[in-house]
Amino acid sequence: MRLHGTMRVNPLSHLEIGGCDCKTLAKDFGTPLYIMDEQLIRENCRSFAKAFSNHYSDIEIVYAGKAFLTTAMVRIVQSEGLSLDVVSGGELYTAKSAGFPMERIYFHGNNKTPEEMTMGLELGIGHFVVDNPTELEMLDAKASSMGIKQKVLIRVSPGITANTHHYIQTGQLDSKFGFPLYRDSAFMAVKGVLDSRSLVFDGLHCHIGSQITDVNAFPPAAQTMLRLASRIREELRAEVNILNLGGGFGIDYTGEDGSLSVADFSAPITATVKEALEEYRLPPPRLAVEPGRYIVGNAGTTLYTVGSVKDIPEVRKFVFVDGGMSDNPRPALYHAKYRAAVANRMVKTCDEKVTVAGKCCESGDILVKDIYLPEIKSGDLLAVLSTGAYNYSMASNYNRLPRPAVVLVKGGRAHLIVKRESYEDVIRNDVIPERLK
Ligand code: LLP
Repeated sequence: MRLHGTMRVNPLSHLEIGGCDCKTLAKDFGTPLYIMDEQLIRENCRSFAKAFSNHYSDIEIVYAGKAFLTTAMVRIVQSEGLSLDVVSGGELYTAKSAGFPMERIYFHGNNKTPEEMTMGLELGIGHFVVDNPTELEMLDAKASSMGIKQKVLIRVSPGITANTHHYIQTGQLDSKFGFPLYRDSAFMAVKGVLDSRSLVFDGLHCHIGSQITDVNAFPPAAQTMLRLASRIREELRAEVNILNLGGGFGIDYTGEDGSLSVADFSAPITATVKEALEEYRLPPPRLAVEPGRYIVGNAGTTLYTVGSVKDIPEVRKFVFVDGGMSDNPRPALYHAKYRAAVANRMVKTCDEKVTVAGKCCESGDILVKDIYLPEIKSGDLLAVLSTGAYNYSMASNYNRLPRPAVVLVKGGRAHLIVKRESYEDVIRNDVIPERLK
């Protein structure tokens, strides 16, 4: 089995991540436990920047915080010199609390609330990515009333249907995100910014979807955006200073998703950008990309303790773990597939076919279906790999399960970066009205 980053099997045949034995991590921090490999996160940040900078000089790597964001993660992103994409007041607050430079923030989202807009304006964030006409108007009015000139990008839906799960396609015409090209909506939005009182047009943004493994999906988006940039230049006499092509760079979850490196994405994208710049005779904009999953996906592992094992002879053997769709809703939401290993017995022979299910009251709470593992028993530790993206960030308290802790491992040391929720945390915001007392 391919192990990511600093993962290895130690002489005790235990899975080790960042020099930390998973058995010790389970003992020290409990399970379920999210384990994040700091070295791999940093390597992913660097390889991303390098793969794009190799082909294009003015590159900005914007980490998409929705994949995994905590104050410690913000510190890593900051120290690696990346910018940050936030989509809510909560993500912005996380960034601010960790001391992230506000000028390196891009504020996304299709329905920013008035409060979120005010917060972004007050904090002096670098860019709002304006998603629709209502927002354009509201943001302009707010910025004007606050006496602020605010730089914005216009989010365009470029009419491209990426080959990925329907729920994570975003570039097609029928999308809730962005101004379509259809009926000149995107073009008119740029004009709207140029005519606005307080918004400053700084460029264009698109994001065609997530977990895209077809490297040929991105170049048409780049081409389309630069065609629009050319029209903006000719007809509106405005420059696209920043071309942000979004994220979506797929990773290998199962060993069958194709092992893509960033270079596989960066080469065709930058080649297309350069060709289009020449074709349209445009000055080169800053090229921004927004990886989320690629930075953290394979750097995360979830460690569970096996509880009951239920064998339905000739039908299925279920292995139940102490978490489930509450800490990883992705299999239930997108039929996402994962690999797993018995972390306290990393042996080669895996000859028992089992289905790993969670403890939530839901038949769809299956984490890994039909996987071959060594014979497994109650008390074993099960590691589900590649859970770094959209697991912690999408975790819930379904069934009133406290959310797991997150530890950051590096060089044989493990640091808690998110505490495990307690039962008190679970009822913290509950209120019993007087009449029920
Ligand atoms: N930029 C924008 C504007 C986005 O909407 C997204 C993801 C990204 C960047 C980062 O995409 P990434 O590089 O991580 O694919 N919960 C889903 C994924 C939703 C993605 C939403 N937007 C999942 O678990 O697969």
